[in-house]
Parts: sequence; C-alpha cells; structure tokens
Amino acid sequence: MRPAFYSPNAGAPAPLPLLTLEGVSARYGQTRGLLGRPGASADVLRQVSLSLHPGETLALVGESGSGKSTLARIVAGLQPASGGRICYRGGELPADAHKRSADLRREIQIIFQNPDSSLNRRHRIGRTIGRPLELFFGLSAREREKRVIDLLHAVRLPEDYAWRYPEEVSGGERQRVALARALAAQPRLLLCDEIVSALDVSVQASVLALLGTIKAQTGLSLLFITHDLAVARWFADRIAVLYRGELCEVAPVEELFAAPRHPYTQALLAAHRPSTRPF
Ligand SMILES: Nc1ncnc2c1ncn2[C@@H]1O[C@H](COP(=O)(O)OP(=O)(O)O)[C@@H](O)[C@H]1O
Ligand SMILES: [Mg+2]
Repeated sequence: MRPAFYSPNAGAPAPLPLLTLEGVSARYGQTRGLLGRPGASADVLRQVSLSLHPGETLALVGESGSGKSTLARIVAGLQPASGGRICYRGGELPADAHKRSADLRREIQIIFQNPDSSLNRRHRIGRTIGRPLELFFGLSAREREKRVIDLLHAVRLPEDYAWRYPEEVSGGERQRVALARALAAQPRLLLCDEIVSALDVSVQASVLALLGTIKAQTGLSLLFITHDLAVARWFADRIAVLYRGELCEVAPVEELFAAPRHPYTQALLAAHRPSTRPF
C-alpha cells in the first residue's frame, strides 16, 4: 500500500470537535404573499446543531429538499446562514468563504454531486488538479507536475490522464478527478454532497472504497451527504437525520439502525429494507 501522502489532523487536539454548528438556520429570499406583498420566508434549515470530530465520517441523510446541500454550502462559505454560528477548530468561521483565511479555504473542501458542472471542461485534468497546488502552496510548474501524478495515483487514475480533458474520461473517473483536486488542497474537512449519487452502483462502490482508503490514510473528517441509507450505513461512523430543515436524530450508525428514536427516523428505516446492500 502506498504510504499516507499527508496527515491533516496531525497536531490537532483530538478530543475537540473539528466543526461545530450551533443553532444554524437558513432561508432563501422572501416569498410573495397575498396581493404580491412580501410574505414570511420559510426557513429551510432551523436551529441545526451538530458537531464533527477529527477523523470522523458523519453522514447527513434526509429526503430531497430537506436542506442537506444548503447546510454543506453554508459550511463551505458559499452562502450565508440566517442565524446561528459555526466554529471550526475552536474559532468562529466567517460566513463568507472570501472572508476566510487562505488556510481555512484550503482546509475545508467541498465536492459536488455532478463533476460535469464542477470541473472546467476547457482545462486539462492536470491543470485542474494543479490549480490548488499553485493557489495554496505556491508550487512551481515542475513541482506541481510531480504532485499531480501522485494525486492521480492516489485516486487510482493513470498519470497520462493529466493530459486529458474531462469529457475524455468516464463519469466515475471525473468524480475521481474532483476528489484529487479536493485532496490537492490537503483538506482537514471534506464536504461530500451526494458525490456518488449520479454514478452507477459498481462505480459508486469503487469511489467510496477509494474515499474510505484515503480517509484511513489521512485522518480526514468527512461530512458525507447522501439520501441513500445503505451507503450511509456502510460508510459513516455517525448518522444525522435531517427532516424538513430540522435535525431529528444524530446517533452512531449501529445505534441508529438498532434503535431509531425519532418517528421520522423510524419511518425512514422502515422504508429502507435492511437486506439492501449498497453494492
Ligand atoms: N437557490 C435557492 N433558492 C430558493 N430556494 C432554494 C434554493 N436552493 C434550495 N432551495 C430550497 O431549499 C430547500 C432545501 O434545499 P436543499 O438544501 O437543496 O435540499 P437537499 O440537498 O436536501 O435536497 C428546498 O425546499 C429547496 O427548494
Ligand atoms: Mg442536495
């Protein structure tokens, strides 16, 4: 096995949470009420409190529209919360990514469901993966080249893929490229928003297995968003269940499956056949 190529939690005080959300709420714009008057806008997240520990994988599950992506985007600094606060490594996290230090921007990375829209189609894969190396580490072209090859190996892609364009590789491979780009930043916290949902089941399995290996090697913390309970069960340490913007239950995986407490979790598990395996 290749050695770990970085260790993001080295030196972090292990018992402290890496990330804490305290009463985070979110809403989008204002709705129009009767006669076009501004109505009350509904909160899509209500008072969400949650913590994530170094090296932990926390799955965030919930039906479509429950607010999962909104939560990830708020943590990533891509949109503001309407209330509450977020702490990261003991300090309050500025809401806007642009107001965060370069280190914070580097340490918190997000990967989206669809690599087709998150990768620049006009850039060769090597350039895409090399960008964070230039931005965050100021590596020279020669140093970047070497590192890009390491990263391609880390996500199990051949090194000559550096010369290809995104459309010249498969969907699963594109998601590996998105993963390599995120890893190039040497994150501590990786926000994964339905990253395997658009992939075939067998490809899902290989991307998840790869992510699991990388996580074990690096001690990365993952906020792993999925609507698929089987994937969450297989992959996460703890599961947080979001229902219409409210967190209804957070528990270690085995506990949640053995004795779900909240009626919504119970309904969710009843709908999920226990025999279902993700792959
Ligand atoms: N840009 C937006 N403008 C207005 N409403 C939005 C926007 N994005 C999401 N929403 C609404 O916020 C709620 C939560 O959406 P989202 O966070 O995408 O949920 P999920 O990822 O769980 O499917 C949904 O009701 C959705 O319609
Ligand atoms: Mg979503």
